[in-house]
Amino acid sequence: MKKLALGILGSGKGSNCRAILEQIRDGSLNAEAKIVVADVFDAGILDIAREFGVPNTYMPPGKFRTRLEPSVEVELVRMLQQAGVELVVLAGFMRVLKEPMLAAFPGRIINIHPSLLPKFPGIESWKQALEAGEKITGCSVHYVDAGIDSGEIIAQRKVPVLPGDTPESLHARIQITERALYPEVIARFAEA
Ligand code: GRF
Repeated sequence: MKKLALGILGSGKGSNCRAILEQIRDGSLNAEAKIVVADVFDAGILDIAREFGVPNTYMPPGKFRTRLEPSVEVELVRMLQQAGVELVVLAGFMRVLKEPMLAAFPGRIINIHPSLLPKFPGIESWKQALEAGEKITGCSVHYVDAGIDSGEIIAQRKVPVLPGDTPESLHARIQITERALYPEVIARFAEA
């Protein structure tokens, strides 16, 4: 069966990317990581790509803080298309994608978010959940649209908030669940 070609985008440490690459390596995910792209020069996700022998690149994002400079986003599209990417996987990518990416990969960009969307979109969702006194939070995989964490939800998994949780302990527990859920969802795309 043909392997699903992934392009993985991130800005941070890349633990979700690692989970995906591990499952590809051990054969439980019928996919191939074609390229890893980061908008942060020293992002851990680039080291992980190197460790797994995946082509990787740092892409200077340009002058904006929350999105890519339009010319950079057009170049990103070109890079992903040239690599033959079929599914774009956002793994801790901290910028909002705009028309060039959304038009080039309609229904083919997914993201993982550390809350039970539509609750707590945006940053530090685990902290938002804790401050709101939630007893249960979790993570969501969703399609990416022009909004912030607003696209159609594909899958969610619950995570309990425990007495005495700090933002850090809760975030760590959510991340464990993320690393299980994200490869599972990608596997569904690979089997489709
Ligand atoms: C994850 O918590 C994810 O939900 C959010 O960014 C974080 C990325 O972590 N979108 P990592 O870089 O995969 O470790």
